[in-house]
Amino acid sequence: MMAATPAAATPAAATPAAAPPATGAIGVPLARIEAREKVTGAARYAYEHQPDEVAYATAVPATIARGRISALDAAAAMEVPGVLAVLWHATAPRLQPVADGELAVLQSGRVAYRGQFVALVVAETLEAAREAERLVAIGYEPEEHDSLLREDHPGLYAPETVNPSFPAATSDGDVEAGLRAAAVAIDKTYRTPALHNNAMEPHATVALWDGDDLTCWDSNQGAPAHRATLAQVFGLDPARVRVISPHVGGGFGSKGSPRPQLVLAALAARVVARPVKLAVTRRQMWAVTGYRTPTIQRLRLGADAEGRLTAIAHDVVEQTSTVREFAEQTAVATRMMYAAPNRSTSHRLVALDVPTPSWMRAPGECPGMFALESAVDELAIAAGIDPIELRVRNEPEVDPHSGHRFSSRGLIACLREGAERFGWAGRDPAPGVRREGCRLVGTGVAASTYPVYRRGAQAFARAEPGGGFTVGVGAADIGTGARTALTQIAADALGAGVDEVRVELGDSALPRAPVAGGSAGTASWGTAVVKACRALRERLDGEHGGVVPPDGLRADADSEQDVADQEPMARHAFGAQFAEVKVDLDTGETEVSRLLGVFGVGRIVNPRTARSQLVGGMTMGMGMALLEESVLDPQFGDYVNHDLAGYHVACNADVRDIQAHWIDEEDPHLNPMGSKGIGEIGIVGTAAAIANAVHHATGIRVRELPIRLDDLLWAEAADGS
Ligand code: MOS
Repeated sequence: MMAATPAAATPAAATPAAAPPATGAIGVPLARIEAREKVTGAARYAYEHQPDEVAYATAVPATIARGRISALDAAAAMEVPGVLAVLWHATAPRLQPVADGELAVLQSGRVAYRGQFVALVVAETLEAAREAERLVAIGYEPEEHDSLLREDHPGLYAPETVNPSFPAATSDGDVEAGLRAAAVAIDKTYRTPALHNNAMEPHATVALWDGDDLTCWDSNQGAPAHRATLAQVFGLDPARVRVISPHVGGGFGSKGSPRPQLVLAALAARVVARPVKLAVTRRQMWAVTGYRTPTIQRLRLGADAEGRLTAIAHDVVEQTSTVREFAEQTAVATRMMYAAPNRSTSHRLVALDVPTPSWMRAPGECPGMFALESAVDELAIAAGIDPIELRVRNEPEVDPHSGHRFSSRGLIACLREGAERFGWAGRDPAPGVRREGCRLVGTGVAASTYPVYRRGAQAFARAEPGGGFTVGVGAADIGTGARTALTQIAADALGAGVDEVRVELGDSALPRAPVAGGSAGTASWGTAVVKACRALRERLDGEHGGVVPPDGLRADADSEQDVADQEPMARHAFGAQFAEVKVDLDTGETEVSRLLGVFGVGRIVNPRTARSQLVGGMTMGMGMALLEESVLDPQFGDYVNHDLAGYHVACNADVRDIQAHWIDEEDPHLNPMGSKGIGEIGIVGTAAAIANAVHHATGIRVRELPIRLDDLLWAEAADGS
């Protein structure tokens, strides 16, 4: 969609050195650089590293939801041939306390949730470890547990901040007065279930000690950050710790911070004085690798007769664990989406006897925009105004909460272009009147948004004596195509071809860089990479007259100050999602026959990998709308469907026609690439677009996800048949 434009067209205020001539490397649909390695199996993932003398560990999960471990009998387990050790809190070495209590593994007898790792078996083979794991006899002192979220829970409290550091509540104007003055108002409660990240590659670590030097091959979203935490936990100088993660099979946020297996593997390797590998099993992932909190969200909207909002109130109830507070920012997007003179948002949490929730693709925006965009649809219907038109009428001039101007805001352009591409014009808003055979047909729309973050990073660029360039940055490619995008960004800044540039990432020995998270990877790493490449180009062309010294020439860059110096502004990506659904009158089954998104995400670095991110997010949003739900059994305090047979994600057979498009958006206020993050926005608004389409098809408003067959079984065709 976007032709390559010279970097000079999008100057970043604080980037030094004149832009080199563009090579056309940015904006090209380059295939993933490591694609061949991946499809041939040559790319090695964490668990595939096989140091000499490696031993195998398996973790033992707690079978109670709350209480204490009173005893552990390892005798039978130790008799299994090849078993080297059974560790539990009475025998495990002590660790340094860190902010994340989930990393205090085997440090106390307290059980905070069912599935928490309470012991570890290490053996010569994986088979021996698994056999022994079954034989570890643990005595518990169970206590009464409370694992069920409800909106009237007496333990609800307001956290100080919500993820990552927003105020938990905001209030502007007078919402009650705004609602009283409204010609039309709605007051509805929406619910989203617990959802679990399921990366194809489960969390895994291979740990190796050499004296006091620790090396971990690990599956994560940022080797440098994982190194820093690991060094803290073991009380080591970070220089003695190395985390290596060149290929990562997905993360979605669940690998954004160290998980217990990283610490356990290192702990076990120290005890048995051999390298140790440990993978979290698929079933264990439901307890120890984070998940999206369930939410209960009350939305109150008021509007005048023309559909202009007089008030917006968004009040959220969600859960955390007793181990660590994770407060999702569910209502934060509502603070800036629409203009209304009176606005309030709040978040309340209850600490339950459950695993600790964490980041999952677009934490906050994803469930929050399901509620807001469903409510906006309900308001549009109540007001008798087209839902696109209603959104257009409530477009703010500036960020309503901060008062900052938007660096760019493509919402209306996305709605308009989406309407055109989708064929929205002439839509009859009446629900339940279109029919194809035994199916009711409907269409829906919802807005998307995701903030544009950027963090400081370091990078180097080196001209090699034999020709070509090496660029190093402690970035992570978790399957997104980051390595490829960074190669294009570096080639562009160097004025070189993409085949002349080799990018090194996924290693804490490389320059320090932030995690792949908050859709900020490319923006953060790319800023430092451009700075290093431009500095190298300048030195190469200047003092060196274009000649590379025999030992190469290297330039280093740090973007910390550039990021700190950027002008305060409201920086967000926007989008519009359109869905067409067909609901079977006999079975209640919903097919999403068409899903179309248009996004305003700045300049696209690589249309192929960008489309893949957006379509992937939308597919995951379809799963959220119709399939995904972690079902808690309150009696056991555990999720009962903890595998992919019981937890359904959208797969090829569910996808009919998904299209992702983007508008031409030039935003000079972001970074040297002019790009906005694209990893998360694709999942935002999808579920609302589908729920809105289901309402249009059937007249049934489903406010609790996922939309089930039994929600729709009583749908009737308008002609009564
Ligand atoms: Mo994403 S949930 O910020 O890794």
